[in-house]
Amino acid sequence: MKTIEMTVNGERVQALVEPRTHLADFLRDHQRLTGTHLGCEHGVCGACTVLIDGQPARACITYAVQCEGSEVRTIEGFEDDALMNELRAAFSREHALQCGFCTPGMLIAARDLVLRLPGAHERRIREEMSGNLCRCTGYVGIVHAVASVVQARGASNETPVAQAPTASSAPRFTPVEDRAEEKRQSASPVGAGTRIEDEVIVKHPLERVWAAFADMPGVAACLPGAEITESAGSSVKGRITVKFGPMRAAFAGAAALERDEAAKRGVIRGAGQDALSSSRARGDITYSLSDAGGGSTRIALGIDYSLQGPLAQFSRGGLVKEFVGRMVAEFAANLDRRLAAGTLAPPPAAQLDAGKVFWKWLWSRIKAIFKLRRRAL
Ligand code: FES
Ligand code: FES
Repeated sequence: MKTIEMTVNGERVQALVEPRTHLADFLRDHQRLTGTHLGCEHGVCGACTVLIDGQPARACITYAVQCEGSEVRTIEGFEDDALMNELRAAFSREHALQCGFCTPGMLIAARDLVLRLPGAHERRIREEMSGNLCRCTGYVGIVHAVASVVQARGASNETPVAQAPTASSAPRFTPVEDRAEEKRQSASPVGAGTRIEDEVIVKHPLERVWAAFADMPGVAACLPGAEITESAGSSVKGRITVKFGPMRAAFAGAAALERDEAAKRGVIRGAGQDALSSSRARGDITYSLSDAGGGSTRIALGIDYSLQGPLAQFSRGGLVKEFVGRMVAEFAANLDRRLAAGTLAPPPAAQLDAGKVFWKWLWSRIKAIFKLRRRAL
């Protein structure tokens, strides 16, 4: 058993819990805050969504001990929140709930959306809310309710309440009815999804690395879980497989490469769908190469992606950063091996198991918590 302390809805709480207790059980059983619902308990349905340090998170896949010292806000903690009250009224007005089981999670996700994306149009609202499932299938009412709040706030030019926008990639404000903007965002391969940046250095000269990056099948062979099924010039078709604990996703789709020889910069634009979960992904991988000295090359990577469907919950948070960081490190190591061997056709890279990344990440978080507490004693 472990004593933990955190702030829940503005109040400091302390409790003795088993390390395996997840945050949703802690809130429901220890704090009697039963507004946080449990549906799938696999991080898929979003019923258990709460705010942890201002960010929406799945309480069912977050251990309570991970929240040591954090600020947790549940649906019960929004009584005096103007925006939440607007959303509640809109949900009632637009018939956005039937049994109401998904509603607490929907409201918390919707509030975050309105704060981050004050100009979100209907398509974007559907995309952003796709990580919250309603078993009564009342999505039209939910989308209308959120859109009406976005629109009303845009019309009154009201500034967001209580919380600053969190996504660095939040787009500029545009009214809901701005169809030109909707078209522009729809035409963009990624829209305003999640952006992750990383950098690696490989011990090979710039020109050699640049030449290797022109070979799409070769680049794909360095990416864990990627496989090319068709290749024609700078365009390829293929799939990338990742495992996330009990979930396995295989995104099949197409990608195209654009290169700027003078700037030594390129972008791979791709989109794919996982048939099993019906999740869709779109992404741009931008790379920029520069001389790192001593015959080495610096590869600056920018990864912009958006996920729709049941896997959309993996769009945010430190976990996905950890996963991408590990993927980039494996890519660099494979590229390094490939360049050292001087072969254009290395064996396909092994699939990356995000489940292992999850446990590694979780273990590092738990160790950090205990280390912090020891220092405090
Ligand atoms: Fe947590 Fe479904 S109960 S995501
Ligand atoms: Fe019943 Fe959404 S209203 S699950």
